[in-house]
Amino acid sequence: MSQAVAVALLLSLTVRPSRPLDNGLALTPTMGWLHWERFMCNVDCALEPDNCVREELFMQMADRMVEDGWKDAGYEFVCIDDCWPARQRDAQGRLQADPARFPSGIKKLANYVHAKGLKLGIYSDVGTRTCAGYPGSLGHFETDAETFADWGVDLLKLDGCNVPNWTLLAEGYKNMSKALNQTGRGIVYSCEWPLYEWPYTQPNYTAIRDTCNQWRNSGDVYDSWSSVTGILDWAASHQKTITPAAGPGGWNDPDMLVLGNFGLSYDQQQTQMALWAMMAAPLIMSNDLRNICPRSRELLQNPHVIAVNQDPLGRQGVRVASAAGFELWERPLSRDRLALAVLNRQEIGGPRLFPLVLATLPSSSYCDPRCNVTQILPEYRELGVQDLFSKLLLQVNPTGTALITLTPLKKH
Ligand code: GLA
Repeated sequence: MSQAVAVALLLSLTVRPSRPLDNGLALTPTMGWLHWERFMCNVDCALEPDNCVREELFMQMADRMVEDGWKDAGYEFVCIDDCWPARQRDAQGRLQADPARFPSGIKKLANYVHAKGLKLGIYSDVGTRTCAGYPGSLGHFETDAETFADWGVDLLKLDGCNVPNWTLLAEGYKNMSKALNQTGRGIVYSCEWPLYEWPYTQPNYTAIRDTCNQWRNSGDVYDSWSSVTGILDWAASHQKTITPAAGPGGWNDPDMLVLGNFGLSYDQQQTQMALWAMMAAPLIMSNDLRNICPRSRELLQNPHVIAVNQDPLGRQGVRVASAAGFELWERPLSRDRLALAVLNRQEIGGPRLFPLVLATLPSSSYCDPRCNVTQILPEYRELGVQDLFSKLLLQVNPTGTALITLTPLKKH
């Protein structure tokens, strides 16, 4: 090694300290299922045995994930949200699952999920209590991290309710990160730190990325179009702040996919899927996999959309233009490709044509001199070789999205 190279190496080591959260996980956005949006805190298993938060629900979802193609499509994590624990810690101060609803315990559930080649996620809170009032981890970070590791948990979602003072958020999230690292088990760490900090201060996204594998910025997703657009508008209006933090190992989390439930039309489901792919968002569904309509399932399992989401370059897309009721989003992909989404925000009228002239794109270089264009949504179509001045007419339904990729063709 030459002296110059040795000095450069040394400098790079001293100037850029390694991330405290060095778990090597979430190199692409996490994919899985989480109970919250669909099943919430339904703990009345006498009244609603099939729709309450209990071990059978997660076992059944794991069964479906393997049998109905979800695992093959890339969905890997079966995640428990709030309302799983007993109201009290055990005699040793450890969290314990509600004995009536999780009689076999979380370790057995983890074994069940692992035997299917899937992973198990669990939930706690950085404050004294969870948002639904169950015991939180404040003052118990090491014990809880060890308990989760001992149970074989693979992901922890740490909520941010009931923190005595918002200034404790940063410390709490960092302490749990360290405690998880110390267990030696690979546990994906899903935070809500920025969401709870925004009302008081602009979060430090460098610190957040150094601490968490994914983090919620904006409010809880609901099963409605206004909720999905609210989240998109939040992301677009904060994109300068949030997108630089995203990349392999750490992702902005706009919350769960609600496709397959009650509130979104099929076009709106296409929009959520396409835009979550553009945002390099974790693809965590909350729906009932035992009863989901085939079209929603096909959309959630669409390999082309998933490939955009999971692109190894890991750059988060941004909204580059908004005019005449259309929005244009761009996301750079690996191998010099670009993904483009055209969202029709107009909620009146019928399908509208979006004239895409490649030369006028903010990233026009992708088609200079020529590129190959593939439409992924609303349906897969090869649009062939195009040049800078080709005009493509994309037809987009109200509240729907057209998703395409551009692959540059080399200059001779
Ligand atoms: C908060 C979180 C949600 C969910 C609930 C559970 O609202 O943001 O995602 O975990 O708490 O109580």
